[in-house]
Parts: sequence; structure tokens; C-alpha cells
Amino acid sequence: MRNGTTAPDYPALLERIAADVAPLVGSGTPAEYIPALAGVDPYQFGMAVADLDGNVHGVGDWRVPFSAQSVTKVFALALALAEGGDSLWERVGREPSGNPFNSLVQLEYENGIPRNPFINAGALVVTDRLQTLTGDASSELLEFLRQESGNPDLGFDAEVAASEHEHGDRNAAVAHFMASYGNIDNPVPALLDHYFWQCSIETSCADLALAAGFLARHGIRADGTRLLTRSEAKQINAVMLTCGTYDAAGEFAYRVGLPGKSGVGGGIVAVVPGLCTLAVWSPGLDRRGNSVVGVAALDRFTTLTGLSVF
Ligand code: DON
Repeated sequence: MRNGTTAPDYPALLERIAADVAPLVGSGTPAEYIPALAGVDPYQFGMAVADLDGNVHGVGDWRVPFSAQSVTKVFALALALAEGGDSLWERVGREPSGNPFNSLVQLEYENGIPRNPFINAGALVVTDRLQTLTGDASSELLEFLRQESGNPDLGFDAEVAASEHEHGDRNAAVAHFMASYGNIDNPVPALLDHYFWQCSIETSCADLALAAGFLARHGIRADGTRLLTRSEAKQINAVMLTCGTYDAAGEFAYRVGLPGKSGVGGGIVAVVPGLCTLAVWSPGLDRRGNSVVGVAALDRFTTLTGLSVF
């Protein structure tokens, strides 16, 4: 528990938030550039809150599985830091890019070093590092998510992975470009496979809220063992706050005031350090690739409770 903070009545709060955002459900557009995601029904909304002890509450479609996509980037970063340490930061920065998540533009004048681990370029470097450290980055990540969520049924979505592969020219370009600067250690085709499998992992809001618990517990895993130092957990939360929603990170910090990581599947994970983790899902995206209703629901959460990192 945060110093002097009393936990809200989560079930009542979630019902209130769901009612508040109901008129918005269906807004935005599901990701169009991955055909397997484009057909998802936009009229879905779920939200879950997990406390530090692993109790989880939810509303709406909070147990419906969806494509985690870039939300997995925060878990990959945590694993790469836990297993390989700080040297990762020699290969990827910690500054907001101010550019779309799939942009190439900064890479050339910044010598193949991506701005941060949450844009696609940075996530490819993180997955490359995890691949070197573990020999099977995507399986390692899936196993980690299973353990932290307590859901052994989590899996990859082969159709989504294949769809991304088929439409993956931009990610391939980013990876090859960084390889030309010596910032990718593994063969690019194998790296792309792991990255696409990673993005295709299916999780529900309940799974994600539970799996992100170590970020609210200052680095402690669901089983009570330590994954990250307190300092590393703080660092990941800080990078989520400044970079987790790409070129909308300033707006997200302004509206929500919590570390958050979005994905084009319409999911967002957010953290109240020392208190709880939140996961929201609604497939309609804004033009920066963040869930319209997801951001609105998190905005309601922090507005109604007064909880934020500020
Ligand atoms: O690499 C891609 O383009 C997707 N697999 C993931 C992008 C994503 O989720 C960006 N987040 N908003």
C-alpha cells in the first residue's frame, strides 16, 4: 500500500467507469495495417484492476482474450534487464521519440540507436537481446506472462503472427537498418519471427493486470521472488510514462498521470506504484495507435480516485 493511501472500492469504481465511458465504446478504428486485427468487433470494452496481493477485479469484457501487441514490450524489457542487466541501455535510449511507433526517421541520424525500448525499433533491439540471452525470446516471454498472470492457457495467435509477417516490410526495414549499424546480433529473419510471435500473444485484461504486478510491487514477482531491483522497476515505470504511448505520451501523462503501455490490439496497461495495476481494452484506436476508450477509462480512474504518480 502507498503511504497513507486507502484502496478504493474497486468493483464499484469499475462499474462507474464503465458507465461513464459507455457512450464512447465503438469509437476509433481497430488497427488496419494488420488484417487479422482489422476485423475485431470495436464494440468491446473491458477493464481490470489487480492489487498487490494478486486479487483482481474487472468489468465488461475483462476476461476476453485479445492481441497484446506492443503491451508485450514492457514485459520483454523487464526480462531483458532482469537477465542481462544495464548494458542494454548502450543499445537503446530512454527518450520519447515524438514520432509514430513504427517510424524510421531518427534511426539514421542517431546511428541505429533507437530512442526508447517501446517504439518498434527499440523493441526489436530488446527482443534481439532477449534472444541472445535465452535462445528463444518469444517462448521465454510467453512463459513469463503465464507465470505472472497465473494463466497457463496463454498462447500465441498464429493467424496474427502470420498476418504481421506478411505485412511486415516496415519492421523488416527497421531491423535490417539497425543491423547495418551493428545494433542487431541475431539473424534478422529469426529476430522478426520472435518479434511477431511476441506481439501475437493473446491476453485478457485480467491476465495483463496480474502480469504487470511486479511493476506495482517495486520489482517483486507474483511468487514473491525479486525480478528487478526497486530502482529498475522505477526506471521501467518512468520509461512507460515518457514513452509508453509513443507520440501521445505527453497527452497520456496529462490526462492519466500514470506509467502506461499501449498496443494496437487496443490494450493498455497502467501502474499505480505501491498500490495496483490496471489493464483496459477496447479495439478502436486513435490516430497514434492508442485505444480511445482505454485512455478515457484510465483518465476516469485517476480523475475519480485522485490516484496518479503526481
Ligand atoms: O510491430 C507492429 O507494428 C505491431 N506488431 C505492434 C505495434 C503496436 O502495438 C504499437 N502500439 N500501439
